[in-house]
Formats: sequence, structure tokens, C-alpha cells
Amino acid sequence: MKPVTVGVLGLGTVGGGTVNVLKRNAGEIARRAGREIVVTRASARDLNRTRICATDGITLTADPFEIVNDPDIDVVVELIGGYDLAKQLVLTAIANGKHVVTANKALIALHGNEIFAEASKKGVMVMFEAAVAGGIPIIKAIREGLAGNRIKWLAGIINGTGNFILTEMRDKGRDFADVLGEAQALGYAEADPTFDVEGIDAGHKLTILASIAFGIPLQFEKVFTEGITKITRLDVEYAEALGYRIKNLGIARKTEEGIELRVHPTLIPKRRLIANVDGVMNAVLVCGDAVGPTLYYGAGAGAEPTASAVVADLVDVVRAMTSDPENRVPHLAFQADAIADIPVLPVDEIKTAYYLRLTAEDKPGVLADVSRILAAHNISIEALIQKEPPQGETSVPIIMLTQLTLEKEMNAAIAAIEALTTVSGKVARIRLETLG
Ligand code: HSE
Repeated sequence: MKPVTVGVLGLGTVGGGTVNVLKRNAGEIARRAGREIVVTRASARDLNRTRICATDGITLTADPFEIVNDPDIDVVVELIGGYDLAKQLVLTAIANGKHVVTANKALIALHGNEIFAEASKKGVMVMFEAAVAGGIPIIKAIREGLAGNRIKWLAGIINGTGNFILTEMRDKGRDFADVLGEAQALGYAEADPTFDVEGIDAGHKLTILASIAFGIPLQFEKVFTEGITKITRLDVEYAEALGYRIKNLGIARKTEEGIELRVHPTLIPKRRLIANVDGVMNAVLVCGDAVGPTLYYGAGAGAEPTASAVVADLVDVVRAMTSDPENRVPHLAFQADAIADIPVLPVDEIKTAYYLRLTAEDKPGVLADVSRILAAHNISIEALIQKEPPQGETSVPIIMLTQLTLEKEMNAAIAAIEALTTVSGKVARIRLETLG
């Protein structure tokens, strides 16, 4: 049978990795797909750059539109990233009746609803396994492997750069800025590294996971994101002393009131497996009503781990190419006419526990004032530590863990605590999840 022809847009790290994996494993891949899969065309901004892959047999161009408009290309693999150009290219490929595989989380999180609607009209597939957690087949796991479950919640370390930074801060006592530089040098950080450290990249990925877990539209604009830039070495140490690790988590939870969608640094018990996922590695915990908690772990970025997901999508596309479009796995796991408009809760309405750190004068009545404020907002204290005052100072650090409370109650309590004359500076607050 004639090989399936692929045009790759973007021959950088992931593009190069995809070409290499397709070539190296061509025999195994063809045995699985039922046909050979061959990259015949690729686009790159700079045609003279040194690459990680050989390009023999591939016609190169600097104009990606040549590829999406080429009638000889069956499947377009979009690996250029970003929103605008990528969207135009993907929509043109779809309009031309081509299937699309993409690793572009920002594109799917922001424009996926429109892209999938266009793809359904044309009867083509748009696959995006590589967009979330690199090589971990988490999309397939949720969309297909857990299809019998009502998903209750999921929580993931889905940004390797952020996890690397927090791990280095904990293990080596390094400072934030110093570690960020190294993460960038490793090639994991986004082109704009604020996407990594401010939770935007994880927010894109969480948007996609929540959509396929709960059957809701992609709604990146409703994800609450808080970065890791305010985490201090002190907080990392106190968390450890209390039996917790600080991880940058993306959390999606279905409650009676609606869906929580949030990315923020989170204290989690050290004994949880996911608390021990370190460095640039990713992991996603998914809890279904039938299966209970399940954990998926692996490389969240890098040339070949991401290529592994791209190629798996290509195999799926080839297997389903001749099938009736109505009977394929739906793009967002649920049938398009069954996507539900369940409300996404504003962050004020989320319920979580908290770690609080404040600096207070070391004199009678201060703790009583703080506890009174918390009680007035229905907040129960779970644990409390008062540290020795640092040498030559009279103020002491007080660290508290609270039980579950509404975010808006905590906001009001923190404002009242900060207004106490005996408390100096801001109260540091990190959300805490037991993931039980
Ligand atoms: N910047 C991302 C990360 C790359 O650090 O996880 C993979 O999406």
C-alpha cells in the first residue's frame, strides 16, 4: 500500500526528534499502523541551520503554507508553536482535508474549540497527545483508558521547568533566579520563560486535561494561575519540616458547585508518589470513581519523548484514516454535541487547605489575635509552629497549616492578620492539597 505522506512544520527539537524516531523505528511503526509513514516535506525558518536529524528524502521549504497546500501531503504535523501562524496553518490544512497532529498546547487551549469544529465539518482528525506532559500518553489514558469513569479530580506536575526549579531549591538550597538560568540552558523552558514560572504553560495543559476529563469546552481564560516566583527557600524548608513538599500543580476538580481549574505552588504530603517526582519530570494523578487514583509519570519535554507522542498520534491517524469520521474517538473525549457547560468556579469559591507564614512580635496575645481572626472566618488550624527569633531580632516566624476553607474566607482573614500592628509585612500563603 502507498505510504502515508507527512509534512512537518518546524524542524527544531521536536521536529528533528520526530523525523529521527520515524526513521529509526520505521519497520515497527509500519507493522503497527498497517502502512509506512514517511516525512516527505518539512518547513524550517532557517534552512541552513545544523539539525539533530538528517533531511535526506525530505523536501525542505521556508514557507510552511506550501506544505499545508500540497495535495500530496496526507498529514500535517504542526511543531512551530505559538498562536497566530500555527492557527492559520492548521485551519488551512483542515480546509484542505488534511489530518493534523500538533504538540502545540497554547494553540489547542486557546483555539481548540474552533479548530475541532472545523475539523469535524471536514471529517479530519486533529491529534494533540504531545501537547500535554510530553511523552506521557495522558490524553489517551483519560480519553480512552478511563472512559468508563466519572473523573473526580486530576492533579499534575505538568511543567518540567517549574518542577526543576523547585527541586533544585529544595535539594541544593539554591535561589530561584539562579536555577531558572540553568533550566533555560537545558532547553526545557518556553521561549518566554514567564510562561513556565507564572503557570501559563501549565494552565494551557490543564485546560486540555480538564476538557477531556469532564467533557467541558476548552476555557483557558477561566484557569486561575499563580507562579512559583514568590516561593522562598524558607518556605521549602518549613514545608519539609512539616512533612510536605512544594510542587507546582495543575489541579482540576469537579465539585457540586462547579469545576475548579487552578495552577499554583502546592504543599503535598511527602509520602505521596507524586511528591517524589523531581527535576524536569512530569506526572499526572487522575482519580476516577471506578478506578480510584491512577498515576502517570515520564518525561514532559525533550526531542524524543515528545516525538514519541507525536508518532503515536500519527499511528492513530493512519489506523483511523479510512474509518467513518462519526465513529472515531471524539477530539475532546466526549461527543461534540454532549460537551456540557458546567460552570468553572472563580478562585474565590475554591476550597483548599493552606500553609501560612507570618512574622509577628514575640509577645503575649499575638497568637490569640491571629487565632481569633481565623476562627471568625471559620478557619480551623491543623498545625502551628513558632520558630526562634533570628539572632538580634524580636520578631518570630509563625507557620500554620489550616484545614479546608473557602479561598474568599482566607483572603479576608489574611487581610485582617496583615492589619494587626503586631504582624509585620505580608502573610505568605501556599495552598495545600492532601491528594488523598
Ligand atoms: N516548557 C515546558 C516545560 C516544555 O518546561 O514543561 C514542555 O511543554
